[in-house]
Amino acid sequence: METVSCMEPFGKLIYTPESAAGEAISKVESHTPRMDFPDTVTSGKPFEVRVTVGPHPNTVEHSIRRIEVYFYEDGRPFNPILLSSVNLAPQYSEPEVRLTLKLSKGGTLYALEYCNLHGLWEARREVKVSP
Ligand SMILES: [Fe+2]
Repeated sequence: METVSCMEPFGKLIYTPESAAGEAISKVESHTPRMDFPDTVTSGKPFEVRVTVGPHPNTVEHSIRRIEVYFYEDGRPFNPILLSSVNLAPQYSEPEVRLTLKLSKGGTLYALEYCNLHGLWEARREVKVSP
């Protein structure tokens, strides 16, 4: 990610594997969330999404403090939908979130994680919905 001024849109402050540059490149592996869920799900049928981060330190000085999951639903006039937002206590809470979702349309799932030292990191993955 290029150096940005504080007047940039907030979205430019979010690191992604594609945008990470300089010192941030060494943080991609330990900070980009991983999302586990089936490539294709059935409309209206619940399925599980698991979001994990790391390995990453989990101390008061340095830890993953928050995980959020959003959904961009294809064809919806306004996006995204906030599906979950979890605050994590250093030392006690591991950076892992499990959600049960039920979708009727496909789209893109986004996971964001916040590290108190290394900022906001994004992962995204398409989810297909079959009738
Ligand atoms: Fe970190």
